[in-house]
Amino acid sequence: MSKPEYVDIVEKVFEKTKEKKTKEFKYIGKHIIRWDAIDKLSGKAWFTADLVKLYQNVVFVYSVRTKYAHALIKKIDVSDAEKYPGVIKVITAKDIPGINDVGYVIPDQPLLADKKVRYIGDTVALIVAENYENALEAADLVRVEYEPLEVILDPLKVVEWGGLREKEHTLIHDERGSDVVSRYKIRRGDVKKAFEEAAVVIENEYRTPMQEHAYLEPEAALAIPQPDGGVTIYAKTQCPFDTRKAVAQVLGLPFNKVRVIAPPLGGGFGGAEDVGNEIAAKVALAAILTGRPAFLVHTREESIIGHSKRHPMIARYKHAATRDGRLLAVEAEIVLDTGAYASLGPFVGWRAIVHSTGPYKVPNAKVDLAVVYTNKVYAGAFRGFGNPQVAFAHERQMDLLAEELGLDPVEFRLKNILRNGDRTVHGQLLSHGVGLEEAILKAVEAANWYEKRKLYSQQKGLLRRGIGIAVFYHGNSIGAEGADFSSATIIIQRDGSIVFRTGLTDFGQGSIQGIVNIIAETLGVPPSYIKVEWPDTASTPDAGPTVASRSTVMGGNAALVAAYKLRQRLNKLAGEILGCDPDDIVIDAPDVYCKSDPNLKITWQELVEQSFWKGVPIQEFGYFRAPPAEWDEETGQGAPYMHYTFGAIISDVVVDLETGVARVKEAVTAYDIGRVINRTGAEHHAVGGYIQGMGYALMEDIYHAPDGRVYNTNLSTYHIPTGLDIPEKIKAVWVEAGFQRGPYGAKGLGEPSIVGIAPSIANAVAHALGGDINVNKDINRIPLTPDYVYSIIKKHGLIKKYKA
Ligand code: MOS
Repeated sequence: MSKPEYVDIVEKVFEKTKEKKTKEFKYIGKHIIRWDAIDKLSGKAWFTADLVKLYQNVVFVYSVRTKYAHALIKKIDVSDAEKYPGVIKVITAKDIPGINDVGYVIPDQPLLADKKVRYIGDTVALIVAENYENALEAADLVRVEYEPLEVILDPLKVVEWGGLREKEHTLIHDERGSDVVSRYKIRRGDVKKAFEEAAVVIENEYRTPMQEHAYLEPEAALAIPQPDGGVTIYAKTQCPFDTRKAVAQVLGLPFNKVRVIAPPLGGGFGGAEDVGNEIAAKVALAAILTGRPAFLVHTREESIIGHSKRHPMIARYKHAATRDGRLLAVEAEIVLDTGAYASLGPFVGWRAIVHSTGPYKVPNAKVDLAVVYTNKVYAGAFRGFGNPQVAFAHERQMDLLAEELGLDPVEFRLKNILRNGDRTVHGQLLSHGVGLEEAILKAVEAANWYEKRKLYSQQKGLLRRGIGIAVFYHGNSIGAEGADFSSATIIIQRDGSIVFRTGLTDFGQGSIQGIVNIIAETLGVPPSYIKVEWPDTASTPDAGPTVASRSTVMGGNAALVAAYKLRQRLNKLAGEILGCDPDDIVIDAPDVYCKSDPNLKITWQELVEQSFWKGVPIQEFGYFRAPPAEWDEETGQGAPYMHYTFGAIISDVVVDLETGVARVKEAVTAYDIGRVINRTGAEHHAVGGYIQGMGYALMEDIYHAPDGRVYNTNLSTYHIPTGLDIPEKIKAVWVEAGFQRGPYGAKGLGEPSIVGIAPSIANAVAHALGGDINVNKDINRIPLTPDYVYSIIKKHGLIKKYKA
């Protein structure tokens, strides 16, 4: 098969620019103010809920949720609720014209529960009322007869160690016949033999918590019924095309009668994927059934119990190494708890197994992973997508191995990391673009690692400092999860201004600015010429989902392809007009001239006008598809992702032995993102990812009561870092190792920016507590809350040991 034109263009641009220093570009890698920054800072930006005021006759849609986390539904009686003042309609499952399901990967999640409820957020009915108060009051009048069932919160009641076999238990998804959603494995080499030959073996169990996205904007959606029987929906969704598919299925409509528009989102982090489909389907249903615009917005409590979370993990890891510090083998069993519904769990599980052994040369591996149901709030996509969990485990293991071998944690990692020309545990050859060693060395230097490590090892007293490192890799885009493509539309207007459209969303992460920089650099126009339109399924080609750190790479490639083709045509036209070679044309809008003779010139606007007269089209669709991923289900061998982002994080902490409080003082992040495209955005990700990862490491967890209710349903009890918790210094350093199939060599950063944070902090806390292997082994779960850290201090008598 010949190489597609779009791959050829991306590779050609990389080849032409790979030796160029980032500072030699005009827009790429520069600090450029985001296109939407002023709107947002001045409070003028429109989010979904801001649009309600533009419509009349809007009804409110309220979700009546279950009283039990696990129960059979015997009867739903809405007759009293329907009579309540202000109530227009009460919708239950039987009113759904299409298919009652919003499962993201597998059809396991009814939009409206009719036979069974499986977690405390399940919706049994929708009240459609004139206003919120009417709806809320009427909700109490919906009478549901339940038959409560045993509530299962512990995934180890579903599967057991030693093969992850499913145990006898009350089935949550009896219709599927099993509560194991999916299983994955890696098989490489001869693990048994390797363990027999090992000089050092380290074995430990790890636990990571359920994490809430805690985005500023709670979920909101607005649907407007259309005269043709279709519906237009504005919704908080990361993935408008997936949302359209889900709504079309629920309503029984063709895709072209469902139009989904995504206004700016106030945060996503992966949380605005599946719930976006759910809320859009709810308002669309209400709009179609009542003929009026329908709106819903969640309170923080509804948001916390009603949208997906990060999968909690329980894992057992066993590593073997030689006396001189080479990794010999990894054996692991990993359980991911997906709560009541699969959501993106199967994909999260797959990403977790792919990354389960870390960015190391591992000759022998046997890893098994199961994604299982419980009656918790369901878990789905969250920045990092299965990798932060396994990275916590393998990076704690690395420190324990280094400790046992008497090696510095950096030195031990340098003996084992992946470099150019190495193969991953899946057998994938990494021929180029592996900047991990450089990232480690840069981080070590910026953090003053060796000096601090030595200094802290000799300290006395009860306020103890510690410094820890973690490294990771993270596959770019969606790999073997699905069709991995993106698209972009660039339309140069007759006055020279430019309209840019993509179906990728901005949910606050700002990655669209990276795409704008790519277009600006390629066309030779200032970013300010480019207007970014809202994603709209009716006016943009399917760009694939906005997930998996794929905007800059996949969306950027699609935009690069479109901009490159436009540039070719404009250069040719300018060459004809000015009488020089197309390759001699410089576009530095508003100036266009011949490099060999700058007196031969024309303005950008004149060139654009001429294109209309000369019949040169100046609008273009760009498309890019990643090379197909390879994955053998039986062995976990293949090439799961087209390429990897690499990183090294160093955290410097202080632990108060009298309170158990751990705080981060300083941190360094070093990421190899191929090429820095959007410098401001990259810096914000380094800091934002760090802080969110620090919350994961030290304070965040969703706590379920034994009956499946959530204890901490708002931000006064679910603690995320505040301004007072932020480290004094977070230093971001960059490695630009390039990637031949990234736009100008770029790789993704959105998800990677959280992956290594928690293990670096945990490793630093372990160092602060004194580096004794028995103490170290207890730093095996996050969050490292004061009570947990204090329990370790007490158990090992550390106050007595360190009192000066
Ligand atoms: Mo994501 S966590 O793939 O938005």
